[in-house]
Amino acid sequence: MNLHEYQAKTLLREAGVAVPDGRVIRAIEDVDGAIEALGEGPWVMKVQVHAGGRGKAGGVRVVRSADEARSFAEGWLGRRLVTIQTGAAGLPVETLYLEPATRIARELYLSLIIDRATSKVTFIASDAGGMDIEEVAETTPGRIHALSVHPAAGLMPYHARKLAFALGLAGNQAKAFAQMLKGLYEVFTRKDASMLEVNPLAVTESGELVALDAKFVLDSNAGY
Ligand SMILES: Nc1ncnc2c1ncn2[C@@H]1O[C@H](COP(=O)(O)OP(=O)(O)O)[C@@H](O)[C@H]1O
Ligand SMILES: [Mg+2]
Repeated sequence: MNLHEYQAKTLLREAGVAVPDGRVIRAIEDVDGAIEALGEGPWVMKVQVHAGGRGKAGGVRVVRSADEARSFAEGWLGRRLVTIQTGAAGLPVETLYLEPATRIARELYLSLIIDRATSKVTFIASDAGGMDIEEVAETTPGRIHALSVHPAAGLMPYHARKLAFALGLAGNQAKAFAQMLKGLYEVFTRKDASMLEVNPLAVTESGELVALDAKFVLDSNAGY
């Protein structure tokens, strides 16, 4: 089962992973309340479909006023979004998500998958976040770092140290990263997930780590 970004972010938030506050929008009438609840802008409005590549397809936009937010909502609700991952027919847009715009210094990539060969949870990390990770793997494989976790031992401090180093995170950022890994690993194993991808994992201008996008695929047999 594939979750929407906003559902994945709810699970991450509950697991103690830093994600922006956000509001779900299903109709134009929801826009004003969402903006009011989130406080000062600018905000980012994001189409919720089960596919990546939304940004490049016009499904993610910075909005600076309630008017801009309403016109984005009018433009997308009830339409279909076509991204490089959807096929030509695209996917219907029934839900939007509004969150404060984060001031981004760096975009990193982090995901957890189950390695089919060994059944181990494997972290994939890259300092080339925000891009198509398959393309990064093809053109600059040296920027992709993988690390498996032994199920009996679980997540160890050296996992976080290694990946933090690979991502150029030190000091307090490395500490925050270790906390984030713990939360991600905990929710991934508890939910019996097959994939959890945070792309981008943003380093903000003020130096914080925030999960700005989340893709969560649960095992279809596991309850949600
Ligand atoms: N809350 C946010 N604040 C600022 N920029 C954002 C925010 N959410 C997404 N972005 C930017 O938009 C890009 C695309 O958004 P993302 O959620 O990753 O969608 P997709 O992967 O489907 O294109 C991100 O790489 C990031 O640069
Ligand atoms: Mg993304």
